[in-house]
Formats: sequence, C-alpha cells, structure tokens
Amino acid sequence: MNTPNKISRKSFFSMMGSLSIAALAVLWYSISARNKVVNGNNKEILIPGDIATGITIMEGCIIAKNEKSVKVFSAQCTHAGCMITRVEGDILKCPCHGSEFDGWSGRPLKGPAYRNLEQLASRFDTKSGSWIITQK
Ligand code: FES
Repeated sequence: MNTPNKISRKSFFSMMGSLSIAALAVLWYSISARNKVVNGNNKEILIPGDIATGITIMEGCIIAKNEKSVKVFSAQCTHAGCMITRVEGDILKCPCHGSEFDGWSGRPLKGPAYRNLEQLASRFDTKSGSWIITQK
C-alpha cells in the first residue's frame, strides 16, 4: 500500500537530477557572465593568471603559455569558422574539415585552412591577477 506522503525512489532521483541540472545551469551562467565583459565594441575575456603552461583552449580562445610569454589566438578556424576544440600535443585540430594549426604560432599545418588563426591582444591585469583578452 502506498502512503500518499512518501516519495518513491524513482521520483526522488528524478527530482535530484532536475535540481542538479538547474544548479549546474546557474553555475555555468554565473561563470560565463563573470569572465566576459563588454568594453565598447570589444569583448574582454578574463583568463586566470595562473593558467598552466602549454596550450589551453578556454572561452573560445587558444592560450599558448610558456615561461616567457603568453600568446592568445581565436579558436575560430580560418577555413569556415568552426570552433577548434581539440589540442593534441602542440597541434590544434578543427573538428569540421580536419585543418590543423600549430598551437604556438597559429600557422596552418594542414588544410583546407590556409590562413593563420587570428592572434588576440592580451595583457596581464595585476589588480585582478587575470589575463585580459580582447576580442573585436
Ligand atoms: S572549419 Fe575548420 S577545417 Fe573547415
């Protein structure tokens, strides 16, 4: 016999799943809103200052950091505009048509893309301890 005030195990897990998805959506929105600032016609993206050395894809940018410098490129492929989402070693791979780019220079290594990835302006903000990347 079912008691009207009891919640079944299935309902409980279903409810917890829905709450988890809602919490993740709120968290994602607050993080993405915090990391992007509109400054005039430009969009500024904040990247943590202590980002690891090597090549990282984050916030639509490719960050190539070594001990001496940081270079930032747009993750938008110069062939047809797909977002590059994969890095293997030093090579960036576009998922759409297979173009490959050097992660340190943005130069194409394999077509169909033939133009370099767009290099973005970046500066270190000592106040926030973040890299500020400017996208036009
Ligand atoms: S959009 Fe990247 S290879 Fe075509």
